[in-house]
Amino acid sequence: MNYEKKYVWSILFRLCHWAFALAIVVLVVTGFYINDPWTNTWLENSRTFPVADMRYYHFLAGFVFTAAVLVRLILYLIGNRQERIFNALPVTPGNVRNFFSTFAYYGYATDSHEERLGHNTLAGLTYLFTYAVAAAQLVSGFYMLYPESVTWQSWGLPLFGTQQQARFIHHLLMWYFLIFAFVHLYLLVWNDVRSPEGMISSIFNGYKFKPKHDGSAKA
Ligand code: HEM
Ligand code: HEM
Repeated sequence: MNYEKKYVWSILFRLCHWAFALAIVVLVVTGFYINDPWTNTWLENSRTFPVADMRYYHFLAGFVFTAAVLVRLILYLIGNRQERIFNALPVTPGNVRNFFSTFAYYGYATDSHEERLGHNTLAGLTYLFTYAVAAAQLVSGFYMLYPESVTWQSWGLPLFGTQQQARFIHHLLMWYFLIFAFVHLYLLVWNDVRSPEGMISSIFNGYKFKPKHDGSAKA
């Protein structure tokens, strides 16, 4: 079969993806440490401050994470066709059809795979939900980081309750990202094996490969 090369993801989109993904790795590792600083006893009487260091890296990664989420929200409005919010929402007949056909494809009920340049609708909706969880994560994070700020209190108190409750919710939300990452990687590999269109490499170079429909595909 002949394929043609299509430009799908802008450089800003790809940078956002990697800033988001790498920040989450740092946030989860440092977050686990903040929760249970296991080096304390061993480092007693030494002049290092591992908890302070880990908190510092957590906040640095938190700012990168926040920037990536904000830029992605802008791309939902002004990004290319694949990156815009209408591509993710089941608001057109094509998107609604794609939503159900993706379930059938993922459930092995059919082998036919709808060709689409951007995310399928199921993935698009999952990513939107992930950014909603990310918004909750960063608001609870900034609420804990600036407990004296009236602005963050006005968001944090009604949404998450006291500082300790916010910390507990912040911790629980971390598990969403861990589970998401595992399912995400599994589905990427699964898709790449079942329909080799260069999905994984597209997040590095921006291009996907689609079957050519000019008759040469039968060659
Ligand atoms: C995916 C993103 C994030 C994950 C997975 C994450 C994870 C965690 C975890 C597991 C903890 C420890 C909570 C506990 O004690 O059980 C924590 C604490 C904290 N996080 Fe995050 N976090 C994220 C984003 C952020 C952001 C964006 C900020 C804002 C800058 C932030 C600020 C904080 C603060 C202030 C604490 C409390 C530190 C302390 O009490 O010493 N986090 N985070
Ligand atoms: C080896 C690591 C990774 C690779 C190769 C990778 C690859 C990809 C690819 C190819 C897409 C587009 C898929 C599609 O069209 O549906 C994507 C989207 C996405 N990935 Fe990853 N990913 C990786 C790690 C992560 C991690 C660790 C996270 C966060 C926990 C993450 C979060 C996302 C999100 C939120 C999107 C949606 C992008 C958007 O529309 O804004 N990725 N990734």
